[in-house]
Amino acid sequence: MLFFSLLLFRVLCVGQSEDAIVDNTPDQIVLSVTEDMATSVSVSWRTSVSVPISKIQFVKENSLFNIEDSAYTVVSKSELLDFKGMKTWHHSALIKELQPHTTYAYRVGNDHKWSEWINFKTINDKEEKLKFIYFGDVQSNIKNLWTRVAKQAVKSVPDAEIILYAGDIVNRGNNLNEWEEWFEASGNMHQAIPIMPAAGNHDHGDSEFGKYEISAYWNKQFKVPSNGADGLEGTSYYVDVKNVRFVVFNTEMFNTYEKDRDSQMEWLRKVLITNNQKWLIMLFHHPIYSTKKNRDNVELRSLVKPLIDEFKVDLVLQGHDHTYARGKEKIAMLDTRESHATYVVSVSGPKMSVVKEADWMDRSASFTQLFHGIEIDNNKLIFSSYKVNGDLMDSFTILKKGNRNTISY
Ligand SMILES: [Fe+2]
Repeated sequence: MLFFSLLLFRVLCVGQSEDAIVDNTPDQIVLSVTEDMATSVSVSWRTSVSVPISKIQFVKENSLFNIEDSAYTVVSKSELLDFKGMKTWHHSALIKELQPHTTYAYRVGNDHKWSEWINFKTINDKEEKLKFIYFGDVQSNIKNLWTRVAKQAVKSVPDAEIILYAGDIVNRGNNLNEWEEWFEASGNMHQAIPIMPAAGNHDHGDSEFGKYEISAYWNKQFKVPSNGADGLEGTSYYVDVKNVRFVVFNTEMFNTYEKDRDSQMEWLRKVLITNNQKWLIMLFHHPIYSTKKNRDNVELRSLVKPLIDEFKVDLVLQGHDHTYARGKEKIAMLDTRESHATYVVSVSGPKMSVVKEADWMDRSASFTQLFHGIEIDNNKLIFSSYKVNGDLMDSFTILKKGNRNTISY
């Protein structure tokens, strides 16, 4: 009798564990920036190969427990990723015609398995104040040593409306385990705050056909606006939010293929020339001024810096060199001795280098994991650099008067 009881217990346990393996709960839920963040949101998520159809439900948040009764349902766009012998479904939806400055609740999945309800807020386009977080390279030892950076960032910059990454989010872009680690380390941060990622060299890799290109996972999980340079949608794009134009540029493909360099240069000029926003911010991986010994991005500097000067880009956010440095006052524009843009290189993960001191730097640091809170309010930009424990390590303020920027720190 005891034997049969034990056998029954074992069968039940095995049954439970098999259920766990075929758990179809959606995961990797991420919000990405959109072309109109006051009235739309871009959501992406993943399910197992057995769930080819998925949906999103959303509703204006009303603090009621029966929120699903009044929810709208939209069937997602679904793409099968068949890569390295593993098949997964990646779903996405661009929800439009939302009301600005309004909290919505959403969940993804289907009637068999839904995610939890998650709140997010559309941008208030009537207000000029914008707050966002900027991370340099995450890259390695992510779960172990970057998790606390992510957790502290949302505490230190509590009302952030966007999260920017300057590339090298993982070390091997086609390694699923590393992306899993990053999703785990970032917790539920990106379920409520849209991501604006730039791609680094490590976010690229060889496809199964041997072509060096952006990671197979990138464009499945980040659904940013498709307004980039030809062939580089997903890693070159721009977004206008309140009074800021953000321009994201793929420096790795700029460095790798002549056609991607040329198409991005043509695209970049168009995006900068059509800008009507008060502030212009560029986000990319390889720095215009390198901060690491034996590195120099000569071609990038010779081609992109003249456009930064010509169109008076205000802030250039970069990564790649695993140090911190910023500079403005000693970086003259091409045809004048004045300076305008502020250049920042940063690192958020634990992979570190020694900073190569250079004349252009106003401030530098080595061996410090950092995150940054940036607040723009009308003519003022306040940039704050925080250490992992939330201590302020550096800050500066840019005041815009007409066409001139003055910096204080
Ligand atoms: Fe890099």
